[in-house]
Amino acid sequence: MASESKFYQKNLSWTPNFVQKNIDIIERNYEKFPSRNRWNCNCHVIHDNDLDAEPIDFEFLRSEYENQAILFCESRGLKFKGLGPIWYNYYKSGQYQEPHVHEGSYTFIHYMIFDNSQHSSTKFTDDSIESPKINQGDILIFDGELEHYVPANSCTSPRLTVAFTFDAEPMVPKGNEINTENIFPTSVWWVDLDLNNDALAEECYQIQSREPKGRVCSTRNGYQSNDLDFSVNQKNLLKLIQEITKVSNAIFQSEYLEEGDRRKLYVQNYWVNINPKGGSHIRHTHPGAFISGVYYVKCVSDLDHGSIRFWRSEWEDFILLQNNLPNKFDRDDCIYHPVQGRLLLFPSHLPHSVDRNELDSDRIAVSFNLKIRE
Ligand SMILES: [Fe+2]
Ligand SMILES: [Fe+2]
Repeated sequence: MASESKFYQKNLSWTPNFVQKNIDIIERNYEKFPSRNRWNCNCHVIHDNDLDAEPIDFEFLRSEYENQAILFCESRGLKFKGLGPIWYNYYKSGQYQEPHVHEGSYTFIHYMIFDNSQHSSTKFTDDSIESPKINQGDILIFDGELEHYVPANSCTSPRLTVAFTFDAEPMVPKGNEINTENIFPTSVWWVDLDLNNDALAEECYQIQSREPKGRVCSTRNGYQSNDLDFSVNQKNLLKLIQEITKVSNAIFQSEYLEEGDRRKLYVQNYWVNINPKGGSHIRHTHPGAFISGVYYVKCVSDLDHGSIRFWRSEWEDFILLQNNLPNKFDRDDCIYHPVQGRLLLFPSHLPHSVDRNELDSDRIAVSFNLKIRE
C-alpha cells in the first residue's frame, strides 16, 4: 500500500478557539490527575465517561468528529458504524504514550496543541511507516491495527491531542445486497391485566361445581367447561371478556386492518380450564376463529405449572427437525410459562399444547376465541 493511502489528514479551523475555551478545565483536571490514564504510560488522559473529572465540551467534539468520520467513510466507500468513547491526552514535559493499537476499525487523532518545531508527531512501531507532517488543528485517521506511540515530550510546552476510534465496514456494491423478507411472520401478544383474580377463580370453581362433567377436547386429566354464556351472573368473567375484546381489537386494528376498515373482533366463545397436577392439553388449533388466547386466573410463574407450547406445522416440523439448528427460524416449538394475570393471544391457526402441570396446586385459565364481525 502506498504510504499516502494509510493516512487521512485534514485541518479543523475551529481548533484554537476550542483550546482557548477548554484549556482551563484541562489544567484543573491535570492538577488533580497529572498522570491518570487507562494504559501503561504517564500522560494525563481524561475520557468523556470519566465521571470524576470536569468534562471539556465533549458534546461539541462528538458531533464534529462524527461528521468528519462520515466524510472519511464516504471518501473511502465505507459505511460509518459509530464512534467509541472520546478522550484527550495532555503531555507535559517527560510525558509519553507507550506503543499500542486500538480496538475500533479506525484511530482518529486531533492535534489540538501541537508545535511541529518542538513536539513529536505520532510514531509507528513499523519503521517503514513514516509519520506524516502535522500542523496544529490537523486530524489524522489511520487503521486501528496500526501500532503507534508518542515519545516523551522533550520541551516545556504541553502537547494536547484528542482521540477516539470509530467503526466502519465495506459498503456492499448496490444491486448485490441480499434482500430479506419475512413472508409468514407469526406474532404472539401478551399483556398483564389488573383484574380481581381471586374473584375470577371463585367463579371458575362455581362453574366446575355446577357442571362437573364439562367436556373433553384437548384436555387430558383436567377440567374443561363447556362454552360459557354471556349472562351477567359471572361478573368478573364478563369483565375479563370486555378486556379481551378491547386488547384484541387494538391488535387487530394496528396489525391487520388498513386505514378506514372498521371491522371488529368479538369473543365468539370462552371456557374455563382447571388443570390439577397431571393435567395437560394435547396439541391443537382453533378452527373457525381468527385470534385465540388464554388468560391465567390462578397459577405460579413456573415452567412446571402448565406452560403453553406453540408449534410449527407438522409439514415444517418434518423438514426442520432433520437439521437440529437451535435458532428461532429452525426450532419446532416455542414455550411460554404461565403468569397469573397475564393475557396471551395468538393466531387461531397456530398449533399449541399445554405441558403437564407438575405442581400440587390447580392451574386455572380461561380460554377464548375471537371472530371477525363483518
Ligand atoms: Fe492511540
Ligand atoms: Fe387452545
